[in-house]
Amino acid sequence: WSAWRLRSIRDHIRTIVDFPHEGILFRDVTTLFADPRGFRMAIDQLLHPWAGSRIDKVVGLEARGFILGGAVAHQLSVGFVPIRKKGKLPGPTIAEHYTLEYGEAVVEIHDDALQPGEKVLIVDDLLATGGTCAAGIRLVERLGAEVVGCAFVVDLPDLGGHALLDRMGMNVHTLCA
Ligand code: PRP
Ligand code: ADE
Repeated sequence: WSAWRLRSIRDHIRTIVDFPHEGILFRDVTTLFADPRGFRMAIDQLLHPWAGSRIDKVVGLEARGFILGGAVAHQLSVGFVPIRKKGKLPGPTIAEHYTLEYGEAVVEIHDDALQPGEKVLIVDDLLATGGTCAAGIRLVERLGAEVVGCAFVVDLPDLGGHALLDRMGMNVHTLCA
C-alpha cells in the first residue's frame, strides 16, 4: 500500500472545531465516505491485514462503524453484526457500560448474534479513548467469540485508545492519525 493512498484517505477527512462540545476537534469521515475512490481505498485498506486469516463475522460499532463494517463484511463475504447504543436492538441483548471522550454510554449486542469460537473483526471509524471498542470487545468475548482484530480509519493516539487496546493484547490496525 503506497503512502499516497494513505495520505489521500487522511486528506478526505475534515476536522470540525467544537463539535459536539467546545474543545473537541471532531474528525468528520462523511467527506471520506462521500468520495468514491476514498471510500473504496478505506475499505480495501481496512481489511488488508486480514487477507488469508479466518474471519467469521464483522462486528460494527454504531454509527459509522456500520457503514464501514457493512462494506468490509461484504468484501470478505461474511456476516455483519451491529453493536448499538442502549435500547436500539429489538431482541434479547447483553450490555456493557463505558466512558468516552465526551460522555458516558451503554452499548448492546444481541445475545445470539455470535457463536462460541467464532473469529471476529471489529470495525469503527475512529479510535479515541478506546472505551467504545473495549466495551465491544467485552461483549464479543462474553458471547464466547474471539476478537482477531480491530480496524479503524482514524487513530487519535493521544487519547490513549491505541495503548489501551495494545494492553488488552489486541491486534489493532489504523489508517491515519
Ligand atoms: C465515536 C466514534 C467511535 C467512538 C470513539 O462515536 O465513531 O465509535 O466515538 O471514541 P472512544 O474511542 O473514546 O470510545 P460516538 O460515540 O460519537 O457515537 P456515534 O457514532 O453514534 O455518533
Ligand atoms: N469520537 C470520539 N472523539 C472523536 C473525535 N475527536 N472525532 C470524531 N469522533 C470522535
